[in-house]
Amino acid sequence: MTTILVVDDEPDLEALILQRFRRRIRARELAFLFARDGIEALDFVAHHADIGLVLADINMPRMDGLTLLGELQKTVEPLATVVISAYGDMGNIRTAMNRGAFDFLTKPIDFADLETTIAKTQRHVAALREARAAAAELQHQREALLQAEKMATFGSLLAGVAHELNNPLSIVLAGALMLEEEAAEISAPGLARSAERIRVAAERCARIVRSFLAMARQQEVQRRPIVAAVLVDGALELLAYGLRSDGIEVTRDVPADLPPLLGDADQLHQVLANLITNAKQALEHQPGPRHLRIAARAGYDAVEISVADNGPGIAAELRGRIFDPFFTTKPVGTGIGLAVSRRIADAHGGSLTLAEGDGGARFILRLPRAGLDAAAPAMADPPPDAAPPAVPRTALVIDDEAELAGVLVRMLAVHGFRCDFAVTGREARDLLSRSEYDAILCDLRMPDMDGQALYCWLERQRPHLCRRTAFVTGDALSRVAAEFLARSGRPVLEKPFLPEEVRRLVATLDADSG
Ligand SMILES: Nc1ncnc2c1ncn2[C@@H]1O[C@H](COP(=O)(O)OP(=O)(O)OP(=O)(O)O)[C@@H](O)[C@H]1O
Ligand SMILES: [Mg+2]
Repeated sequence: MTTILVVDDEPDLEALILQRFRRRIRARELAFLFARDGIEALDFVAHHADIGLVLADINMPRMDGLTLLGELQKTVEPLATVVISAYGDMGNIRTAMNRGAFDFLTKPIDFADLETTIAKTQRHVAALREARAAAAELQHQREALLQAEKMATFGSLLAGVAHELNNPLSIVLAGALMLEEEAAEISAPGLARSAERIRVAAERCARIVRSFLAMARQQEVQRRPIVAAVLVDGALELLAYGLRSDGIEVTRDVPADLPPLLGDADQLHQVLANLITNAKQALEHQPGPRHLRIAARAGYDAVEISVADNGPGIAAELRGRIFDPFFTTKPVGTGIGLAVSRRIADAHGGSLTLAEGDGGARFILRLPRAGLDAAAPAMADPPPDAAPPAVPRTALVIDDEAELAGVLVRMLAVHGFRCDFAVTGREARDLLSRSEYDAILCDLRMPDMDGQALYCWLERQRPHLCRRTAFVTGDALSRVAAEFLARSGRPVLEKPFLPEEVRRLVATLDADSG
């Protein structure tokens, strides 16, 4: 519908126009407003943003048509002005056109001509509005991009902080564990319980830091068999605090015995985190009870994970747009969460879709099942523990943080190792050139000779020790480190590590060199 403002001091014109256009008014194609002079007209324009066409006489009391035209050029809303002048009044018509009039009509008004002019003006105004909307959209996208860049910077800053937490966290964790064991040995149950509480809390911190780093890490897609339950738990763990503090009740229906799916754990983790965050944000403004349900099931060749909330859901007219990059309905959203998530799902040969249905939103992530011949799931449990061998074995722990090296030494002792330790790469090289070790745990980043250089030396000088070597790293973010580790093919212990992971590492090394 186009709203036309007619500005003329002639009282008969109003009745004439209403009569002439009555069908189109009834059909709601056109609406008319009438002003007696320029001042009244400006008042209308200020209060009706939908006016698309102003039809203005030139000679009027208080403010004439030409002055009005000048004022209308200053308005923000796109509208076109058509002036009406006496036949042959070329001077005023030229002035009007030079001041930005879109067209002119002569008196007495020829209504057929007026119809044509209205149609032409409607097309012009529609084009103007479209251009304006496109410009506004562009501006919005630019802002969103800027926001995304800011978030990316913020993200890498946070990742750096998480990374720095690795070493101290490893020390807290291991310290609590040792304390727990020692308290048990001297029969001090109260002390043991306190130490246990510290250990459990530190383990939680370690898992959160890990999940966060996994998300921040930029790596090539690494497809491995993954257990859905592990994926879901990792994502929930990261967002647990926010969900709890918003009073969101989480239901998790993910059978542990589902067949593994094939994918990149870090990227899929990010997809789940996006979906859960969206659900959390949708529930924020919702009166209770608030529910989030994550379920998984196996299909013939795929595993499906669904994330559902009982929030306001997604209006039918928005359903087609939510996966578009930069589409957001949130004041501070960037609108890239779902776009990125869908891209990841597609790249995996899977899909991310919004399920049909009323009430709440339910997203379904479908991922291909790992083939039957695939290796064992990356995060599955290791084979059960063997008793520590009777013959003492020797290990070399290399870490420039002596305290952390001490922690590893104590953990290895539990598995029957007698340990040497070195705090620099050179010191380690000296030890390695004259002694044999059953296991070598080497930090990657050291000031004088780093893990990579030491390993190169081993390959040349003591090659048989290579397959007894594992790396310890807090450098999960570095591409160089990741590439080196992948090339070496040696097992990696990521800081902050849990005693359980040290045990697994020992088992892997035993299997390698056995
Ligand atoms: N669970 C949900 N319930 C209701 N609306 C949702 C839900 N998930 C997504 N949406 C709608 O889809 C839009 C796009 O989501 P998307 O995750 O891509 O971007 P965002 O959440 O707005 O911003 P960002 O994730 O970049 O911070 C949201 O703005 C919201 O309108
Ligand atoms: Mg989002």
